[in-house]
Amino acid sequence: MAERIEGRKVADEIVAAVKGGAEGLRGRTGVVPGIAVVIVGTDPASQVYVASKSRKAKECGFHSLQHELAEETDEATLLALIADLNADPAIHGILVQLPLPAHIDAGRVIQSIDPDKDVDGFHFINVGKLSTGETDSAFVPCTPAGSMILTERARGRDLSGLTAVVIGRSNIVGKPMANLLLAANATVTIAHSRTRDLAALCRTADILVAAVGRPRMVKGDWIKPGATVIDVGINRIPAPEKGDGKSRLVGDVDFEAACENAGAITPVPGGIGPMTIAMLMANTLAAACRRAG
Ligand code: GUN
Repeated sequence: MAERIEGRKVADEIVAAVKGGAEGLRGRTGVVPGIAVVIVGTDPASQVYVASKSRKAKECGFHSLQHELAEETDEATLLALIADLNADPAIHGILVQLPLPAHIDAGRVIQSIDPDKDVDGFHFINVGKLSTGETDSAFVPCTPAGSMILTERARGRDLSGLTAVVIGRSNIVGKPMANLLLAANATVTIAHSRTRDLAALCRTADILVAAVGRPRMVKGDWIKPGATVIDVGINRIPAPEKGDGKSRLVGDVDFEAACENAGAITPVPGGIGPMTIAMLMANTLAAACRRAG
């Protein structure tokens, strides 16, 4: 049976270290790390994520601002808010929750964030640094950064020569994850909706990362014996066994079946989700430390 990789526990350790780091920074320089989280519209999942990001920031002792804008907010208004946050010395990290409403050009909004405050790691400058191996000075996107930490916990720090398959080619998870694995000297393949014989490809993976957003798409017999499985999916499905209208969260991997073959696997919930928020806190502290010099 696979080892369960307890992301929540690791995330708690990181948050405790960030809290200590923030206290130290304040003691040395008087600087309190500040984060602004911006949400446009009322997407329920986004609201849950944003609320937990703001809560965790307060727990870390950060100065935390939450900007909730109406669905019909125009792009110019959002860009003006970001310009204000870019200029605000009390704010070290800016996060604009995605997806944005269709009438707003999300790319333009992301590129308007000061790269030194881009704690999501989505600005071209940070994407470019990561893809050219400048990982020390890049802000690395939070979900892949957290996924790497859990991979290394399960597998040891040396991933050199291992075969990694990342399912999903998003800019938020799939592509940066592949770059991080490549920087760690793994042999990396990115699979996506057009990949042929995904099952056979997955069976080659020492490290399998699933980031597609399709409930339990990865089957137990796709897992190479002993593989490390990182399940990034957070999918809400009906749960009639819990009563009418109830739902529950599952990952992109069929967890019970995968446990038969995997060496180690992240659960959903309690795996990658808490790590994403912990890494956002770590990135914000790093941004504040850089500003403080
Ligand atoms: N939407 C889903 N994941 C993320 C994330 O990591 N950052 C932002 N800003 N929006 C998201």
